[in-house]
Amino acid sequence: MTARIIDGKSIAADLRGKIAAEVARLQAAHQLVPGIAVVQVGDNPASSVYVKSKSKAVADAGMRAFDHKLPENVSEAELLTLIGLLNADPKVNGILVQLPLPAHIDAQNVVAAIAADKDVDGFHPLNAGRHATGLPGLVPCTPLGCVLLAKTVLPLLAGLEAVVIGRSNIVGKPLVQLLLAENATVTVAHSKTRDLPGVCRRADVLIAAIGRPEMVRGDWIKPGAIVIDVGINRVPGEAGKSRIVGDVAFAEAEKIAGAITPVPGGVGPMTIACLLLNTLRAACAQNGLSFPAL
Ligand code: GUN
Repeated sequence: MTARIIDGKSIAADLRGKIAAEVARLQAAHQLVPGIAVVQVGDNPASSVYVKSKSKAVADAGMRAFDHKLPENVSEAELLTLIGLLNADPKVNGILVQLPLPAHIDAQNVVAAIAADKDVDGFHPLNAGRHATGLPGLVPCTPLGCVLLAKTVLPLLAGLEAVVIGRSNIVGKPLVQLLLAENATVTVAHSKTRDLPGVCRRADVLIAAIGRPEMVRGDWIKPGAIVIDVGINRVPGEAGKSRIVGDVAFAEAEKIAGAITPVPGGVGPMTIACLLLNTLRAACAQNGLSFPAL
């Protein structure tokens, strides 16, 4: 038996459609058009691809995108000045500074300078702390997308063994809070974990966020498990071209897993849909409106 493929592209399109309908309703009822500022520093090719697809998704949802592209050599002070202006601009409900930033800029300073209620990435220490203590706040988009995808297979994750590989602030750590909130039993594995394959084999839900191409092999997977692959790795392909693979060896894994996300077309599109969700949520909160059930 081969695994059910979790079609992130179509699940994300469905969510984006609901968000667009709500944006239209907000505009009609409250003359409110949610807006997001996307800030890119330099020309990192991967960042340029992400930023372009984010801006397109924002426009498709009927929201406003304010794109700011700054040169690689911009100073931290200049970037902080821009963030100050965006914080004060009522048309801007969300602010996203694309990471990574050049080495001369301290990303933590930059993230901390974003108004917490506009931090649609959910990276601000205040949002991370609110999330960790169970208070409402903005939650990082990629982990939120992972949990929403897993729940399309099993709506109730309560009591399941969830194993997350990777402990980054962007994915691994917020996933712990999200999975605990679903009442899963959560293990975070990382580069120092002993017997990583054995730990993974315990997982009913396995989420790989490592950044190493096809590291998770088929025999690391418990038969029937839900596998969510966060990896986006560029590897040499045919005819001198490159191709994108995940952190999971897909061809092996799909023979063992119960359900699995493809790469591309799994977590990536959900990250962008969740960014729109966070922007809508931020716009509602900033305007004293309750957030609709989608
Ligand atoms: N770089 C890689 N992923 C992300 C993300 O989710 N948000 C931002 N701002 N930068 C990233």
